[in-house]
Amino acid sequence: MRITIVGCGSIGSKLARAADEMAEVKRIYLIDIIPGLAESLASQLKKAIVIEDVEEELYHCDLVIEAASQDAARTILPKVVSRGVDIMIMSVGALVDDDFMSSVSEKAKACEARIFIPSGAVCGLDGLRSSSVGELEEVELVTTKGPRSLSGIQYVIDQGIDVDAVTERTIVYSGPAREAVKLFPKNVNVAATVSLLGIGFDRTKVTVVLDPEIRSNSHELRIKGEFGMMDCHTFNVPSPDNPKTSYLAAMSAISALKRIVRNEWIGI
Ligand SMILES: NC(=O)c1ccc[n+]([C@@H]2O[C@H](COP(=O)([O-])OP(=O)(O)OC[C@H]3O[C@@H](n4cnc5c(N)ncnc54)[C@H](O)[C@@H]3O)[C@@H](O)[C@H]2O)c1
Repeated sequence: MRITIVGCGSIGSKLARAADEMAEVKRIYLIDIIPGLAESLASQLKKAIVIEDVEEELYHCDLVIEAASQDAARTILPKVVSRGVDIMIMSVGALVDDDFMSSVSEKAKACEARIFIPSGAVCGLDGLRSSSVGELEEVELVTTKGPRSLSGIQYVIDQGIDVDAVTERTIVYSGPAREAVKLFPKNVNVAATVSLLGIGFDRTKVTVVLDPEIRSNSHELRIKGEFGMMDCHTFNVPSPDNPKTSYLAAMSAISALKRIVRNEWIGI
């Protein structure tokens, strides 16, 4: 299999190193907008070469992996799927726009391309996927963050909350995911993945809690439905090279790639 990785930052570089060790991956094309970054990564790998644009090697490529930004995802998604090439998206927030999502889904179906969305920085999506086959009454994502993660967010400032002065756990937002992804752009990927898989952006509830005692974030996924109830709590550690990204997000991209290249579907 030949893959293209768009974005050689925290997730993309870990993924490229892991892919380099996968026997099933024969070639890795790397792209980054920061001059020299893709070249430096490629020089440390056995199977990688640098390209300038995602369309350059699309004809030879089986899977494109976006690990760059929402803007990059919005640009490359239609180009890739309309050429019948599979794509994995990490910047899931790009799919919040319903019109964009349905237009790329239709294109992908028509061109027989698949869109893969890894579970990212949250656990429990296996249960959400299974339970969404039946009736779901409630899906709530409770995200707890420390003061550093919530400082400078306009909505928090507008609520009159001084994140450094808060001394006990405080709910700073509780409402629909659609609103949450606009107010808390750094939380957008997890909320988007949960909403897309479950009951959509309007019915999924997001609660954001400020906890002065914690340094990294946690996500609690609470689901109630025909199947019963589920409460799944993920306590993330930040990526050593990018504190904004949970380590688990890169791991989920690597594990998704393994499943795809090996055609292994345990626990799906
Ligand atoms: N799904 C999830 O749960 C989850 C979790 C964490 C991060 N993410 C998202 O994954 C993406 C990558 O995260 P990261 O931590 O690796 O970020 P990062 O900032 O460490 O790396 C991103 C890299 O992409 C490059 N880039 C940006 N735009 C580009 C473009 N148009 N073309 C080529 N390269 C481009 C940047 O130069 C940078 O090197 C981000 O959008 C982030 O929000 C998703």
